[in-house]
Amino acid sequence: KKRIAVMTSGGDAPGMNSAVRAVIRTAIHRGCEAYAVYEGYEGLVRGGDYIREMTWGDVRGYLSIGGTSIGTARCARFREREGRLEAAKNMIEAGIDGLIVCGGDGSLTGADLFRAEWPSLIAELAEKGHITKELAEEHKHLYICGLVGSIDNDMSSTDATIGAYSSLDRICEMVDYIDATAQSHSRAFVIEVMGRHCGWLALMAGIATGADYVFIPEKPPKKEGWSDQMVSIVKRHRERGMRKTIVIVAEGAIDNELRPITPEMVKDVLVDLGLDTRITTLGHVQRGGTAVAFDRLLGTLQGVDAVDAILSATPETPSPMIGIIENKIVRRNLVEAVALTKSVAEAIEAKDFTKAMNLRDSEFCE
Ligand code: F6P
Repeated sequence: KKRIAVMTSGGDAPGMNSAVRAVIRTAIHRGCEAYAVYEGYEGLVRGGDYIREMTWGDVRGYLSIGGTSIGTARCARFREREGRLEAAKNMIEAGIDGLIVCGGDGSLTGADLFRAEWPSLIAELAEKGHITKELAEEHKHLYICGLVGSIDNDMSSTDATIGAYSSLDRICEMVDYIDATAQSHSRAFVIEVMGRHCGWLALMAGIATGADYVFIPEKPPKKEGWSDQMVSIVKRHRERGMRKTIVIVAEGAIDNELRPITPEMVKDVLVDLGLDTRITTLGHVQRGGTAVAFDRLLGTLQGVDAVDAILSATPETPSPMIGIIENKIVRRNLVEAVALTKSVAEAIEAKDFTKAMNLRDSEFCE
């Protein structure tokens, strides 16, 4: 029987549990033994009880639980070869044939590196006598599949990451709450949202709540006079009788010289305009809570496909990443998707914002 393991890694995201549930149950349904690696790569490095066989019943109720019930971590040890060597040993001892990693681009980069290094890790383990030659031969191929779980929606080659729509929903709900008090006091609010270097959450929340202005990293304003456009728009809205002002700032917002634009800086400008202004940093409420239906479906459909991708993989198949494009579940080359995602960051770094915009998914950029 094949043994398939699933793990969640990096920042948690609503819907990860749906993905874990789908992987476990599909693996069992397809006649495999299903495993969960607890605490992400940390669990893989520690081994032992962190790698547990799962039954059908173990994931009962997972659809309506937020976060990830098998735990997650950002693991420094896995970034070192020593840590990956330990992880390889633990995987072989547990007899795992295929690993499904649900996480953001950092976690999937780790998965990609792990697979690339696998033959040399195995060789080293056999050489040092940590595993037998027979085991090394039996496990000479590692099958990996990536599922993109992140609220940031910052991964290329997929329209949506698991968790992004739940987070967006939560942000909209919070902005609606703020709207009420802003309206009552005729105040301005600067709302900081997550997303790391990606402006998807900020931009979509801005559109969905009718915010006055949005700052995102992919379309930075000029270093000099960065606030001019915001000021003229806010003024115009106020002159038309609006009692509230809402400006959404992505946590990664920058100007075109890559200097951060912070909520405090935006607040100062609004105060100069004569507006009574408050800052609200939404923080981790954006990541908590249960998943919206879309993320439950996404996690489920992609979890099923991830198991099938592992079962049909050959040593020659490049590791897949399961995405969704134009409402279809698709498989993409994990290495290429990770590289494409990195090239957006590189374009921003090089101040080529047009390229950065073009590299992001089209509906988000245009
Ligand atoms: O990647 C998800 C995310 O929530 C980002 O939006 C944010 O920058 C980061 O994780 C926060 O990380 P932590 O929970 O470790 O503070």
